[in-house]
Parts: sequence; structure tokens; C-alpha cells
Amino acid sequence: ADALKIGVAGLGTVGASLVRIIHERQESLAVSCGRAIEITAVSARNRDKDRGTDLSGTTWFDDPVEMAKSGDIEVLVELIGGADGAAREAVEAALARGVHVVTANKALLAESGVALAAAAEEKGLLLNFEAAVAGGIPVIKAMRESLTGNTISRVYGIMNGTCNYILTRMEKEGLSFEDCLQEAQRLGYAEADPTFDIEGNDTAHKLAIMTALAFGCEISCDDIYLEGISNITQEDIRAAAELGYRIKLLGVAQRTEGGIEQRVHPTMVPHDTVIAQVDGVTNAVAIESDILGDLLMVGPGAGGDATASAVLGDVADIAKSRPGIQTVAALGRPAKSLTPYKKAR
Ligand code: NDP
Ligand code: HSE
Repeated sequence: ADALKIGVAGLGTVGASLVRIIHERQESLAVSCGRAIEITAVSARNRDKDRGTDLSGTTWFDDPVEMAKSGDIEVLVELIGGADGAAREAVEAALARGVHVVTANKALLAESGVALAAAAEEKGLLLNFEAAVAGGIPVIKAMRESLTGNTISRVYGIMNGTCNYILTRMEKEGLSFEDCLQEAQRLGYAEADPTFDIEGNDTAHKLAIMTALAFGCEISCDDIYLEGISNITQEDIRAAAELGYRIKLLGVAQRTEGGIEQRVHPTMVPHDTVIAQVDGVTNAVAIESDILGDLLMVGPGAGGDATASAVLGDVADIAKSRPGIQTVAALGRPAKSLTPYKKAR
């Protein structure tokens, strides 16, 4: 079969890892997917920056929207970030042109996920976003494929690697909040604007996506109760430990009689629970459903390679798929069938 031609927009922490991994594993990927994956086009802001990987043989675009509109690509891999601007325009342009999309951009999906899913479905295209929630952990696959038929009552967990990394190192090594945050940025875990991490917005974006998948409703970050970790002190962490608890930033979404409750806040978690033992950049996502029962998925929640692993899985799914035959439902069910989001009062 012909190689699947992909264009990678964004060559930062995740994009550079993805390009390197695809180059390094070309042969084994071709065997697994039944066809090669070829990077034909790339885009970032600074053409002169060393990406630590070979970009020869690819066409460079300064403008990712141009790449989406005119690049020789069948899949746009959007790894730029941000709810608006270049990321959104490139994704919209790709879908309008009949190009599949893979993205790790939870801010974009939280804001425009339903419209993008509808646009993809209309054209019979795939919109894959495994890396948008909990980094490398396959929670989206679990939600939109494996748990089909289950009624889900609650989804919760540690969904931000930066915050869990900060809280863990503050507790275990007595380091300052600022030092831990800087280290998380250096390691490539944090968002371009790290206030999204530490004030809980990033967790809220991920939670809103999981809520839509869990409850079949539209994606909404409106009125999510939001409290980040920027006010957590060593004293708070010590006081919790003395009482037998650890502090974790949790996102929680549940069905209640009055509607759906979504909240993000630091939580005292009993020391002897699995979630309390989740350290560092690791994430943990719990899904409670009626047929399966309780599922807990734990694994790397951020970082270049871990995230690229999920992005690569999404690309490979497209390489293996037979577009046109497959039913497309990016949000687990057709976008038209999503119910309005009703917040619990
Ligand atoms: P980076 O900030 O490291 O990389 C962003 C890339 O986008 C850079 O290469 C930058 O170019 C490029 N870029 C920015 N603006 C433009 C523009 N207007 N036109 C063209 N290129 C542009 O981000 P990450 O790799 O960390 O994250 C990428 C996406 O993945 C985000 O949506 C993020 O939320 C998501 N994500 C990140 C994870 C992580 O652990 N880092 C985990 C899960 C998801 P240049 O390099 O030239 O400046
Ligand atoms: N900044 C995010 C985090 C990246 O720390 O979890 C992964 O989505």
C-alpha cells in the first residue's frame, strides 16, 4: 500500500519527539500498520532552530494553515497548542479540505471540539486526540471504544502532570513551589503558559472532554468549579500528611440527579489509596461504569516521548483504517446526538 503522508505542525516538545520516533521506527511501523508513515511536511515558527532530528525530505511551511491547505498530506498532526489562532485555523482548514486530523490540543477541543467533530463527521474524516487527556495513557480509546454500551457514572483523577510533579517534589524533597515549576517547564511538562497548569485550567479542559465522552453531552468548561495549586504551601502538605492524607489536584465529573457536576481542586486523598501513591508526572484516571465496574488507568501524563506515543498511536490508527467504510464518531457518538450540557445546581 502507499505510504500515509502526514504533516506535523509544531516541532516543540511533542512534535520533535514524534518526528524522531517515526524516523527511528520507520520499518517496524510499516510492518505494524501495513503501510509506511511518511512525514512529507512540517511547520513551526523558527526554521533555523535545531530540532534534534532530521527534517530533510520534508517540505517546510512557516504557516501551518498553508500546510493544511496545500501540503501534500493526508493527515494533519497539530502540535502547536492554544484554543485559537494558528492551531485552530490549521485544523479547520485541514478538515475543510478532506484531511484527517490528529491533535494533542485539549484547549482547542475544550473550546471547539463539538464543531470540529461535526466537521470531521460530515466529511467522513477521523479526528483523533488520544494525547489531549492524560498524555500517554489511552483514556480516550477506553472511553470512545472499549466502554461503549456502559453507563458511566463518574470520571475522576489526576490529569495534570505538572501539578502532580510539583506536589510530589514539594512533599518528598521539601523543594519550593517555584523551583518545582521551573523544573517541570525544563522537562517539557508544562503548557506554554504554565498558569494553565497550576491554576487548574488544563485539568478543566481535559475534564470537559472526558465529561462529553462519559455522558454524551456537549463539551463545556462553563461554571466548572476551579481551584489550582498555586496557594498550596509546605505547611498544607505537612498538615495533610500528619492526618494520613496526601494533596492531589483532582478533576471530578459525575452524574447527579440535577445534572452534571464538574470540579477541579486540590483534594486530600487518604494515604493508602492507589491515587494517593501516584507520584511525579504520572497521571491516574478512574472511570466508574455499570457493566465493567471500576477502571483505573495509571501512566505517564506528560513529556515529549510519552505524549508522542499517544499521537503516534492515533496516526497509526488512521494508517490502518479504511476511511469511508469506518463510522466516524470522534466524541464516542455522532456529534449531532450529543445532548446539551446541563450543570448540576
Ligand atoms: P511547545 O511549546 O514545546 O511547541 C509548540 C510548537 O508549535 C513549537 O515548535 C512552535 O514553533 C510551534 N508554533 C507555535 N506557534 C506557531 C505558529 N503560529 N505557527 C507555526 N508553529 C507554531 O509545545 P508542546 O510540544 O509541549 O505542546 C504541543 C501541544 O501538545 C499543545 O497543545 C499541548 O497542550 C499538547 N500536549 C503537550 C504535552 C507535553 O507534555 N508537552 C502533553 C500532552 C499534550 P517554534 O519551535 O519555532 O517556536
Ligand atoms: N501541561 C500538561 C500537563 C501536559 O502537565 O499535564 C499534558 O497534557
